[in-house]
Amino acid sequence: MGVQLFGTGDRWTRIALPVGYRRTARWVPRIGDEFPDFAADSTQGRLRFRAWARGAWVVFFAHPAAFTPVCTTEIAQFAMDAAEFAARGARLLAISRDPVAEASEWARQIGEDFAAPVGFPIVADPGGAIVEACGMIHGADEAPLPVRKTFVIDPAGRIRIIMEYPHCVGRSVAETLRVLDALQASDRHGLVAPADWRPGDPLLVPAGESHDHAGDRLGRTVRRLRGYLGVVDV
Ligand code: BEZ
Repeated sequence: MGVQLFGTGDRWTRIALPVGYRRTARWVPRIGDEFPDFAADSTQGRLRFRAWARGAWVVFFAHPAAFTPVCTTEIAQFAMDAAEFAARGARLLAISRDPVAEASEWARQIGEDFAAPVGFPIVADPGGAIVEACGMIHGADEAPLPVRKTFVIDPAGRIRIIMEYPHCVGRSVAETLRVLDALQASDRHGLVAPADWRPGDPLLVPAGESHDHAGDRLGRTVRRLRGYLGVVDV
C-alpha cells in the first residue's frame, strides 16, 4: 500500500492506495480494482473502511447532499430494504460532503418520516477527499456535490460493480439488490448472468468455456442454443 493525498482547497486526506495505482496520474476506480482503505468520521463514529467491512460484501454509495428531496428517498429506501442486504451478507455505507451533525439529524428525520431507522453509517466527507478519490465528483464547481455513485465491493475488497446516476434521477435500490444477487450467483456457480437476470432464472456458460467442460464441472445439463450460448438451470 502507498499513501497518497487527495483533497480540494485546503483540506487533504491520506488514502492508502495499492502501490501500482500511484503510477497513474489520476486513479479512477474500475471494476476489478482493490477498493482503497480510508478512515473518516461517520454518523456512527470514526470508521476505518477495511476494518468496518470485515470481509463482507459492501454497498458503498454516494449521494449529493442531506436535506434534499431525491437523496431523502434513496436513504429511506436503503433503510427500508436493509434486511434484504443483510440477508445477502452485505453491509450498507453511505457518503456525502455533509458534516456529521447534519447527516445525523437528517437520518433521524428519515427514520421518523419513513418509519425506517437508518441503521447504516453515513460517512462525512466535508473536504471532499474521499468522494474525489472515488471518482464521485463529476462537476468542476469549487465545492461540487458527489453524483449518485454506487460501488458493490466483494468480501475480498474488490470492486465488482459501479453504477452512476446524475443528481436529477434517484438510483434503484431494487436494481442494487438484483446485481448483488447476480454477482453472488455468478461466483457460486462459475457461470454468468444474462440481461435482466433474476434469482431462479437460468445462468449462462462463460465465454471461453466449452459446454462440455461446464456440464462436467457442474454435473448439470447445458442447453446449447449456439456454440457461444449455453444455458444452465441452477
Ligand atoms: C436531490 O436529492 O434532490 C438533489 C440533491 C442535490 C442536487 C440536486 C438534487
